[in-house]
This record gives sequence, structure tokens and C-alpha cells, in this order.
Amino acid sequence: MSAHSNDLHLQLGPFQGITDVYYRNTFQKYFGGIDTFFTPFFSGIHKENSKSLRTDEIDVAHNNPLTLTPQLLSNDGIEILRFADQCQAMGYREVNLNMGCPYPQVARKKRGSGMMPYTDLVAQIADEIRGKMPLAFSIKCRLGYYDSTEIDALIPIFNSLNLSELIVHARLGKQMYGGIPDFEKFAAIIPQINTRLVYNGDVFSPAQLQIYQQKFSPINHWMLGRGILSDPFLASDLKGTTLESDPEAKKEQVLKFITSLYLLRRKAKNNNPAILGRMKELWSYLYLSFDEAENVWRSIRKSTDFDSYEDAVARVFKHHHWLGTGYVRAPKDDFLAPTDVEHA
Ligand SMILES: Cc1cc2nc3c(=O)[nH]c(=O)nc-3n(C[C@H](O)[C@H](O)[C@H](O)COP(=O)(O)O)c2cc1C
Repeated sequence: MSAHSNDLHLQLGPFQGITDVYYRNTFQKYFGGIDTFFTPFFSGIHKENSKSLRTDEIDVAHNNPLTLTPQLLSNDGIEILRFADQCQAMGYREVNLNMGCPYPQVARKKRGSGMMPYTDLVAQIADEIRGKMPLAFSIKCRLGYYDSTEIDALIPIFNSLNLSELIVHARLGKQMYGGIPDFEKFAAIIPQINTRLVYNGDVFSPAQLQIYQQKFSPINHWMLGRGILSDPFLASDLKGTTLESDPEAKKEQVLKFITSLYLLRRKAKNNNPAILGRMKELWSYLYLSFDEAENVWRSIRKSTDFDSYEDAVARVFKHHHWLGTGYVRAPKDDFLAPTDVEHA
């Protein structure tokens, strides 16, 4: 482990449809290593006391407002303030603006990473909210939508906002999740950002993190994404704090986690069959950490109801070995989750 492991700060990246409140709470019960969490994005906060915010997803009865940051997808300063006010009233300390979502139906409307080429729009939003945020404010963005020069024009605006942190997924919006991050460009912006800068993009193993630590010194805040969906031990492995060293013990722990999450979702959603889709979406990352991964994925994917899903899970844990760090072995151009579910 690197000399800096004790100072490592790790965030769980938000995944619409996967890292919901049930995932986050079950994750914390079975695994460690994550310091801060984000909700998948909210949108359409048109009113005070918005109905969209009256949900377990953000209710402090189910969430710890000291370690969870609610995220908003918006290109409207008034909506950002409205969201911030409601989150503050619930007891949250910080809100985050999503300027990273790459999906065409979002980006086309100049939202998510689709805002990044429009410097004037971002400047106007900044003018609307500057000095008025009732709580800490952070932004998650990419290097640009079409081109990494887009962030250069935005940095002075970001720097004028007294952000608590800027999280940069070091890809372009048009890349979606494919290709590799632009490490050189990320390194180049480090000295230009006047707040804490968090790196996001392809942190899949302790070996990779060590390389990034060398490239991006003094960055020590990292957001984990597909790597931790694929191997929930990733955060504690990066910190050198994982208790289970034997792969069989790890597999046992993953089984407990996935079963507990499944039962919690069934209970919370009154056995709605849609939760099968949610479980499969998580499996579309998790399967990569097993041996004969394609066979694992095929078994899970073809299950059509709760019984066949439970049989498939039992077979996987009986017949396959846990290898871990699955995303290191992911197909190269895997820019969408294999389930092809759309996340508007
Ligand atoms: C299916 C899916 C849903 C996502 N939903 C969100 C989201 O709601 N908010 C967000 O900021 N990022 C979202 N992301 C992006 C991830 O949080 C993360 O930034 C991205 O996967 C890059 O990190 P990685 O290379 O380590 O996977 C999503 C990504 C995927 C694939």
C-alpha cells in the first residue's frame, strides 16, 4: 500500500438505477472503505416541498446526511437554489450539481455534460447562485462534451463559486464510458483549481490507484465507479483494510450482501418484479469478478422471475470462484451497461 493510504478519501460514485438507498445501506453493512456517498441525480424540482424529494432515497430516516450528498441534474440556477433549500431543511450539509451525465437525451437539452460547451449558460447559472447557496456546493463534471478545452473556459467560473470540491470524471461526454480517461489533461488542470479536486475514471485496482497517485500528486480524493460495483471490496482493498483475505471468505461476504440487498428491495417495493431488473443491473458489473464470467452473466441474465433468479444466484455461488477486481478484465469498449437500460 502507498504511504498515503491513511489519508485516502474514497467516494462512491452515483449510479442511476443501482446505488440507491438500499444499495448504499447494504454496502455499508457488509463492506467498508467509502468515506462519502452521493445519491443518483434528482431532477424536476419544480416546487418547494417537492414530491420527488419525499422518498426513502433522501429521507434522513434512511440516510446519514453527514456522509451523503444529494445530487441534482439541472441547468437552472433557481432550481438549484430550490433543491439546496430543501436539502438543507432536511439536514444535509452539501449538494452536488451533475455536469457529467453523457446520455444524448440529457446532453441534447444542455444538461449534464451537455452544458460544458456552453460557457455563457454556466456563467449565467453561476451568477444566479453565487453567494446564495444555503449549504456547501460541489460540482461533478467531465473534461468537456466534445473537447477537453471546454473545461478551460469553465475553470474561472468554477473558481468563482467557492465550491467545496470539484469532481472531474476525466473523459469527454461524447465518449460516454468508453475509451480511456485523458490523464494528461487532468494532470494539467490540477494547479488551476482553487478548491479540492477529486479524480474519477477507471480506478479499478490498487495497482492502478498507485499509478494515478504518482501521476496526480497531491490528489488524494478519489471517486470510485464501475470498479466498486464489480468488486465491492475495492475501497477497503485500496485502503488495505479488508478483513477477509481468502477468496472463499470474500465470496461468502458477497453472497450475504447480494442476498440482503435483494430481500431489502423486495420488501421495500412489495415484491414488484421490477426489482429483478435492478439486481441484474448490479450483476452486469459483479459478474466480472467471478471466474468464467460470461457463464455467470448468462445464468443471471436469463432469469425471468424471483425463483429462477434465486436458483441462478445459488448456482453461481456454488460453482464459481471469486477473483475480484473484475473491471480490470472488462471488455474494452464497454460504454453502456450490458443490460442496455437507459438512464435519462
Ligand atoms: C449506468 C450508469 C449510471 C450513472 N448514473 C450517474 C448519476 O446519476 N450521477 C453521476 O454523477 N454519475 C453517474 N454515473 C457515472 C459514474 O458515477 C462514474 O462517474 C463513471 O462510471 C466513471 O467512473 P468509472 O470509470 O470509475 O466507472 C453513471 C454511470 C453509469 C454507467
